[in-house]
Amino acid sequence: MANLIDGKKVAADMRQEFKERVVQLKARGHIPGLAVVLVGDDPASDTYVRMKGKACEETGLYSETIRLPRETTEEQLIAIIDGLNANNAIDGILVQHPIQNMKDENVIFNRISPEKDVDCFNAINVGKLVLGSAYLFPCTPAGVIELLKRYAIDPKGKHVVIVGRSNIVGKPLANMLVQKKAGCNAVVTVVHTGTRDPFMHTKSADIIIAAAGVPEYITGNAVKEGVVIIDVGTNRVPDASKKSGHRLVGDVHFESCEKKASYITPVPGGVGPMTITMLLHNTLLSAERRFA
Ligand code: GUN
Repeated sequence: MANLIDGKKVAADMRQEFKERVVQLKARGHIPGLAVVLVGDDPASDTYVRMKGKACEETGLYSETIRLPRETTEEQLIAIIDGLNANNAIDGILVQHPIQNMKDENVIFNRISPEKDVDCFNAINVGKLVLGSAYLFPCTPAGVIELLKRYAIDPKGKHVVIVGRSNIVGKPLANMLVQKKAGCNAVVTVVHTGTRDPFMHTKSADIIIAAAGVPEYITGNAVKEGVVIIDVGTNRVPDASKKSGHRLVGDVHFESCEKKASYITPVPGGVGPMTITMLLHNTLLSAERRFA
């Protein structure tokens, strides 16, 4: 039976550690601040945005949430970002993805000052990440790497198979894990919808990182004995036995995989709590650089 990787506990420990850094920043006269921008009325995005504000409050950070109607134009959003870029009280700016009604989100992400781009979606920061000269890393990939570190699972020399090639998880994570530095140095394969035989690759993996967005895609038959499994998926599936009518499952079929894995993350309570934690981390890093 696999050991459980408890993301909830790691996230709580890290947030406790952050409180001391907030105290030190405040002693230097600055309250670290995060601005979250939400365009439109998507209920899932609204929940995430509220969770981000709450996490800031609990950790002692200043946060402001700017809610805009879905009719907001690119020009209007750019004007708001420019204002936040120039605002000294703000160390981190996040525009919730997907941005409703926006032709090209990258125009918006690239407008955020690289120093305040705590999502690391900005082309300059993605470029630095690939070159190995970044100090801000995207939140979910950074959360995955932090979980491995805190459970003393070193990817060095191991075959890591990432399932999914999104700009938010798969692509940056692959680029981070191949870096020649502590906690990385992995041999990385990215499996995606164009892969002929994805499970041929997952079967040879020492570490699987599932970020495909397909409920319970990876089953016990697709993994080898002793594998480490990190499940980034959070999928709502219908469940008549639940009051809400649905339950959350990952991209991994937990019951069959936990029998073979050495370590596995649950859903919920694995990677999920780490994403906002790394957002707080990036906001603190940004504040510490701006008010050193
Ligand atoms: N939507 C889903 N995940 C994310 C994220 O990490 N950052 C932003 N800005 N939007 C998201």
